[in-house]
Amino acid sequence: MKLLVTGGAGYVGSVVAALLWETGHEVVVLDDLSTGHADACPDGVRLVQGTLRERAHDVLAEGGYDGVLHFAAKSLVGESVADPAKYWDGNLGESLALFDAMRAAGVARIVFSSTAAVYGDPETVPIVEDSPTRPTNPYGATKLAIDNVLAEYARLHGFGGVSLRYFNVAGAFGGFGERHAVETHLIPTVLGVALGARDEVPVFGEDYPTADGTCVRDYVHVIDLARAHLLALDACAPGVHRVYNLGSGAGYSVREVVEVCRAVTGHPIPMTVLPRRAGDPGTLLASSEAIRDDLGWTVEHDLTAMVEDAWKFALGGRR
Ligand code: UFG
Repeated sequence: MKLLVTGGAGYVGSVVAALLWETGHEVVVLDDLSTGHADACPDGVRLVQGTLRERAHDVLAEGGYDGVLHFAAKSLVGESVADPAKYWDGNLGESLALFDAMRAAGVARIVFSSTAAVYGDPETVPIVEDSPTRPTNPYGATKLAIDNVLAEYARLHGFGGVSLRYFNVAGAFGGFGERHAVETHLIPTVLGVALGARDEVPVFGEDYPTADGTCVRDYVHVIDLARAHLLALDACAPGVHRVYNLGSGAGYSVREVVEVCRAVTGHPIPMTVLPRRAGDPGTLLASSEAIRDDLGWTVEHDLTAMVEDAWKFALGGRR
């Protein structure tokens, strides 16, 4: 297939673009490089630089596209609280421009990068796809709005779409990994201590109702996540919008993650306990039964594999 990957110079987008290219697809990446990196765009893949508003129309008008994988987004929860308009415009506004360009070019197949943040602080775990959606920050609200637009565009314009709601993505693949200018995620932060970039891991709260008091999250390897996108692409059906959660179903606390990082790196990795971070739910766990049952998706990598791959990448992966 000929595929447009928006945000393909970012973390998850670059891994999916690499996997698509390796499996024989023709891939064009559209990325404004506001948070992505030109050298994260896989060799053999054409990079078009620009926003969706600026370039989606003319790129798709070239013709021949079979589908779009849409990753381009602003994705920092804290920033979204500080500047909601940036998120509504950058996520929903830019997505509407992409969807217009798709309609103009007659491209109806889309896989969208959604998030567990649409569920907010869940009443029960594991979270299933029809759990209540009550985002607690503008980031999650904008992603939910895009899911809703896709449901409407399936019904009203014949789009065939799949929204994949990611839980906590980690690990690296083939030299493509997590490289954020502002790093807020747990595993890269912990590995940053082992690398000497910081002295200790800030642990945000140890008074949660969990076994050791620290937050529990559902970590999924970026390559397992990427494989789900290929399955979703094949499952797109005109007029239908589907939603799937993507997690491993296994929960790890912050302390357990630090323990695994110690074992992998051999570094003592000191921790310091700080107050809770605003908006953090105590436990987030996915039920991924739906995508397993419908599309045959399975998890192949555990937390140790994620940390090992993230560590190799941190020590100087190819890029
Ligand atoms: N944490 C720390 N110290 C750190 C960083 C994180 O203790 O330095 C803790 C957080 O409090 C949280 C856990 O580690 O309990 C994981 O935090 P991350 O920032 O790595 O990930 P989040 O669970 O906050 O966020 C992830 C995605 C978001 C998405 C959210 C859905 O990264 O994009 O899940 O709720 F919105």
